[in-house]
Amino acid sequence: FSNCWVSRREFLRAGSGLVAATIMLKSSPGIAAAQREYKISPGYARAALKGGDGPIAEVWAYDGRTPGPEIRLRKGELARIVVENRLDEDTTVHWHGIRLPNTMDGVPGLTQPPIKPGESFVYEFTPPDAGTFWYHPHADSLQQLGRGLAGALIVEEPEPVEVDRDLVWVLTDWRLDTEGQIVPGFGNPMEAAMSGRVGNTVTLNGMVSKDQSVRSGERIRLRLVNTSLARIMALKFEGHRPVVVATDGQPCDPHEPDGGRLLLGPAMRIDVIIDMQGAPGSRHAVVDDFYDGLAYEVTGLSYATDAPLRENPVEAALRLPNNPLPQPDLGNAERLELVLQGGMMGGGMMQGLGGMSGDMAHGHAIWSINGTSMKGDGHADMPPLVTLAGGQSHVVTMRNETAWWHPMHLHGFSFRILSRNGAAVPHNQWADTVLLAPRDIVEVAFVADNPGDWMLHCHVTDHQTTGLMTVLRVG
Ligand code: C2O
Ligand code: CU
Ligand code: CU
Repeated sequence: FSNCWVSRREFLRAGSGLVAATIMLKSSPGIAAAQREYKISPGYARAALKGGDGPIAEVWAYDGRTPGPEIRLRKGELARIVVENRLDEDTTVHWHGIRLPNTMDGVPGLTQPPIKPGESFVYEFTPPDAGTFWYHPHADSLQQLGRGLAGALIVEEPEPVEVDRDLVWVLTDWRLDTEGQIVPGFGNPMEAAMSGRVGNTVTLNGMVSKDQSVRSGERIRLRLVNTSLARIMALKFEGHRPVVVATDGQPCDPHEPDGGRLLLGPAMRIDVIIDMQGAPGSRHAVVDDFYDGLAYEVTGLSYATDAPLRENPVEAALRLPNNPLPQPDLGNAERLELVLQGGMMGGGMMQGLGGMSGDMAHGHAIWSINGTSMKGDGHADMPPLVTLAGGQSHVVTMRNETAWWHPMHLHGFSFRILSRNGAAVPHNQWADTVLLAPRDIVEVAFVADNPGDWMLHCHVTDHQTTGLMTVLRVG
């Protein structure tokens, strides 16, 4: 097995934003604690989103690249990440999915002051969980995320699962004009009342579909990250049987997804292990067919002509080592219900909010959670929706009374997905973002062991900024 050492060396060679590879702090003789240190700078850049000879798009990017540098931390080891703002506007960085101290969560006006142009902020936290996470701004979110500010954040397991290669695919969606430039006009109220700003171009690690080279017989761990503003994906690997081993970074019972489709809403991650069983020289499409009639190839798996790497598939276990997640005590849990309302309901009517009007263009709410609508980037001009007793187990029921899909995200915690429309959700799936179809009722549970004010919002960014957002206080 090649695995981590090779990929780590490649990663160091690639440079990333890693300033001091690994600083060894000698805490006590013979025991060395490592600290990972990064510096990333959001700013303006140019990117060949359609490949080397395509048009060059003006983007906003971390360290001049979109997606930003892949940040690799280690479970249980302190990380220090300096963010230097080279944009002309305020920003912050949110470490999506990491269970970290509230002051490091990156929500301007709630957990920290915004990082002003030219200023820096130092984030320091120790990720308790290994897994696939990501980072993005939490200020002017529609534009900053929609123009390219996002990157993968991988927390390595102390003992990685045995695979030949560990790959990250950051998938994102852009709305490009005929010149290949990003179409301006973020925050269109009509779109915000429907599916949000779904674009017309999907990139994989910053570039439109270029086949991925694979070798017959190899076992690949593939970390899928959807950093789109609004696009939901349903990925099918033709001729392959990916096994889901983690959702939103958290290990689950290994299983094949329903219908072979990997459903990935904005902000969601899925780790799969795939045994590459195609014949040498063959090609297999990876298709996203989420939107009816709009299926397209995300990429293709292109097999080398080399003889298979091994004769029989690897037999090693697929299960990832557990993370130290506190198990909710369902018998003694407190209950909270969140009712999602708003948006277009058909016939041009807005649910519960009095119809579409010119006002919406001026920042009026389109969506609500329990009748309240926090807008923009979640500034603390509204009191928390509820205070949850600290240390206590909570079951949260989310009811989607709208006609639209919503990937609902809670900061600071991972929750167990208990049920969907009354049916138990199998395979011990944990998440920080759960996708609700229209009319879905989903129950999740978690232990409120991390004090602070935590955002809860839809990760379709247009929905978030127009009211599908609130704050839960953990006392
Ligand atoms: Cu990726 Cu407030 O979230
Ligand atoms: Cu988050
Ligand atoms: Cu939504």
